[in-house]
Amino acid sequence: MDITKIQNLKNQAISSILEAKDKQELEELRIHFLGRKGEISRLIKELPKLEVEERKEIGNLLNDAKAAIEEAIQNQSSVISHQSSVMDKDWLDVTAPGEKLDQGHLHPLTRAIREIAAVFERIGFIRVSYPEVEWEWYAFDGLNMPKTHPARDDYESFFVEGKPSSKYGRLVITPHTSSGQLREMQRTKPPIRIINIARCGRPNWDATHTPTFHQFEGLVIDERINITHLKGIFDYFAINFFGPKRKIRLRPFHFQFTEPSFEVDINCPLCLGKGCKLCKSGWHELGGSGMVHPQVLNNGGIDPKKYSGFAFGWGVERTYAMKSGLNLDDIRPLYEPDLRFINQF
Ligand code: PHE
Repeated sequence: MDITKIQNLKNQAISSILEAKDKQELEELRIHFLGRKGEISRLIKELPKLEVEERKEIGNLLNDAKAAIEEAIQNQSSVISHQSSVMDKDWLDVTAPGEKLDQGHLHPLTRAIREIAAVFERIGFIRVSYPEVEWEWYAFDGLNMPKTHPARDDYESFFVEGKPSSKYGRLVITPHTSSGQLREMQRTKPPIRIINIARCGRPNWDATHTPTFHQFEGLVIDERINITHLKGIFDYFAINFFGPKRKIRLRPFHFQFTEPSFEVDINCPLCLGKGCKLCKSGWHELGGSGMVHPQVLNNGGIDPKKYSGFAFGWGVERTYAMKSGLNLDDIRPLYEPDLRFINQF
């Protein structure tokens, strides 16, 4: 009996076992090699015919081969079991409901900005953008708010490190979009009809204030522009953005850069002005407005004797929160990555 024959038999057995696709095939191979009348058993039966020395050597080889084949069968058997359990799940039912894919959507703020812009664009306003990091002069001084003026305290700001300009002062993250008024006046001549929607920054953090927020600023300058135009535009916006039952109210106020000035309120989305738990008074504040101060027109290079205009600056977050049906008493989640909140919109 020769040694290579035994080794070949072992190799042949193992490679057939590795190709076995199911348990039945594996069982047939086991019988073929290890069964009572199988290849290995047949050789074992021949052992007594051999010389003592040879018998020992061949005997060991056959035992090794037998053990190796048994091990291969064991291994292949568990491979087959695993495969069939995977196959069991691989069913096909074309009528079963599909797996729902997550679908993204625009962030509510992006949507608000687009909706606001669209309402104004419909009546001929042009959307512009101005720097969100701006010189102090555009944010304050040019708007009649010199450094020492107490009104400037209301616009507590983030200043940016960097070399100040001798003409325009320090760099600041714009605390309001009104800086765009002067930029626009310098860029072009009347008639001006723009909407400037931008990110602003002030160091505040509570239910209605976030350090980053957005404002939209309207500016209209032409000959003989007066308060009725301002009121007409606000009424148009209230109905088209908020809905037909919503109304705007003006309250006298004071801003350095408008004269006269008003705060603008919108009636409550829930009680429509009667007064309820959400609003108490029936109204919610949207932001400021007024007739552009003659000195500001001058600062922007526009002759206040020939032209007049109005401006308004409202918070995007607050305006969106006041939209019919939306009862957002805390705007902070708009800036947090919590999908449970964001996905509601
Ligand atoms: N810039 C003012 C603010 O942030 C709002 C405002 C804009 C007032 C335009 C009047 C005119 O409070």
